[in-house]
Amino acid sequence: MSIYSVNGTERVLSEYAFLVSETDEKGVIVFANDDFCEAAGYTTQELIGKPHNIVRHPDMPKAAFKDLWETVKRGETWTGFVKNNVKGGREFYWVYATVYPVLRDGKHYYMSCRKKPTADEVASSIALYKTLV
Ligand SMILES: Cc1cc2nc3c(=O)[nH]c(=O)nc-3n(C[C@H](O)[C@H](O)[C@H](O)COP(=O)(O)O)c2cc1C
Repeated sequence: MSIYSVNGTERVLSEYAFLVSETDEKGVIVFANDDFCEAAGYTTQELIGKPHNIVRHPDMPKAAFKDLWETVKRGETWTGFVKNNVKGGREFYWVYATVYPVLRDGKHYYMSCRKKPTADEVASSIALYKTLV
């Protein structure tokens, strides 16, 4: 069973979808779980070693990612709503993401765990992101 349904060009996540990815300190993907790969339309092999902006959607304001990076580099947890591109750029999906730092073997990594946002949360994020650059 798929972890999303299709509504036009949007992939709407199911309640059960749980998308996980991990990056190194430069934002290069070191891990992606099956749900993340399925939603984004990539295989694990295509994602590992690539910068995480591979899924960046042009509607996302730079300010959101600046805040994300500043927060996790301080050692804190960032939460926010993110619109991501599916491979090929013709479809997209929204997530509610929690991103936090992980220290492993003396190295810094960052983990993002994502679930389906509510329709209201998506609507507010669309309105907010239109006001940001
Ligand atoms: C753990 C982690 C997960 C991230 N997940 C995403 C994501 O799902 N989508 C996205 O566009 N950027 C994500 N980013 C932010 C990217 O690293 C990048 O800053 C962003 O895509 C903006 O691209 P740019 O820095 O080239 O402008 C993530 C960063 C971290 C540390």
